[in-house]
Amino acid sequence: MAKYRIGIVGCGGISRVHAKAYQNTEDTEIVCCVDIKEEAVNKFGEEFNIPEDSRYLNHNDMLESKDLDIISVCTWHGSHAPITIDACKAGLKGVLCEKPMATSLGDADAMLEAAEASGTKIVIGHQGRFRSSNVKARELILSGAIGQPTAVFRNSSDGLLNNGTHAIDGVRFILGDPKAEWVMGQVSRHTDKWERRVRIEDCCMGLICFEGGTRFVMESDLPKPGPPGPSVYGTEGSMKITGEKIFLMNKDTDGWKEIKISEPVQKPDNVVMQAGWSAPAESSPTQVAELIAWIEGKINDHRGAGKHARDTVEIMMAIYESLRIHHPVHLPLKTKKSPLELMIDGGAMPVTKPGRYDIRVPFENQNK
Ligand SMILES: NC(=O)c1ccc[n+]([C@@H]2O[C@H](COP(=O)([O-])OP(=O)(O)OC[C@H]3O[C@@H](n4cnc5c(N)ncnc54)[C@H](O)[C@@H]3O)[C@@H](O)[C@H]2O)c1
Repeated sequence: MAKYRIGIVGCGGISRVHAKAYQNTEDTEIVCCVDIKEEAVNKFGEEFNIPEDSRYLNHNDMLESKDLDIISVCTWHGSHAPITIDACKAGLKGVLCEKPMATSLGDADAMLEAAEASGTKIVIGHQGRFRSSNVKARELILSGAIGQPTAVFRNSSDGLLNNGTHAIDGVRFILGDPKAEWVMGQVSRHTDKWERRVRIEDCCMGLICFEGGTRFVMESDLPKPGPPGPSVYGTEGSMKITGEKIFLMNKDTDGWKEIKISEPVQKPDNVVMQAGWSAPAESSPTQVAELIAWIEGKINDHRGAGKHARDTVEIMMAIYESLRIHHPVHLPLKTKKSPLELMIDGGAMPVTKPGRYDIRVPFENQNK
């Protein structure tokens, strides 16, 4: 019998990546799954050999009737917090929850409080933290290859909470997870735009100032072409990261120099790699292996631990908050609800083009 009994919550696209990651990790066995849609849970159950009596339509039914160690939360963003909190209350050892961690800072903090109370290890699926180009970039930046970072540029698309969370979390990772001191943002929402059942902006941007003074310009859904990214400028050099390649320029490089990265993905020894895998599948087995190492006390922290993702949520919410209060936002952010939701509900962001549409999970009768 496997050492760790796994439950999968939400049987859609990314759940398959998680499931394959567990299949490729020693000592884990997927024993049950849950989805609010019967068709989805049955399809997943058949694909991954989960008996019919271990397929559920409600995550609490699954938590009550199965003795589980770890769950993967692969549902739409709005349910990440309540499901993770329920798993903590059920005393699970670990939760691998998809990004974004939560849709408000209050929810992210509630997840961390529940984890603290139960001793559950929470990891958020910002798998870019395992990509070797990012690991190498972080190593170079922290060893002073470009001096003190002064400016970073990054762009993203399809929603701040969706891909923007990867972009912001990735920049924080390569800079060594600095604390943000203040954020100034601009947000536009003229259409009734949703993404996986969460209301989102048409476009936005943020200027984030980290401790030490590093400025980070973050664009989301602004007109193309945006800055290639991330690009990082420092007092003694510059760096560009494009996919799996890093280009460095400093006094020793004689112009831009490509930094060779031997392994496309950093992986622990107990991970069996899938053939032909690519993002986001590439890093998932490593996320799981590192979660298990964390649970077993072999490492003190997980690079995707909830506390890091919580700080990323705080920055995203501060971008929204800056528009709400018409000022720069000095962190820590005090507004616990989503400032975007507060503005929409309060009538501060009226849509000029009616018609609700979801860019990832279309509503029935959606026009777009
Ligand atoms: N890390 C990454 O790069 C990455 C990539 C893709 C998706 N994601 C994240 O994974 C999550 C899921 O995305 P997806 O593309 O797999 O979506 P999806 O629509 O393909 O699948 C989500 C599934 O969750 C189910 N679901 C929704 N609410 C539920 C609930 N309360 N309980 C049980 N099941 C529920 C839906 O019925 C659906 O089958 C999102 O939050 C997304 O941001 C992350």
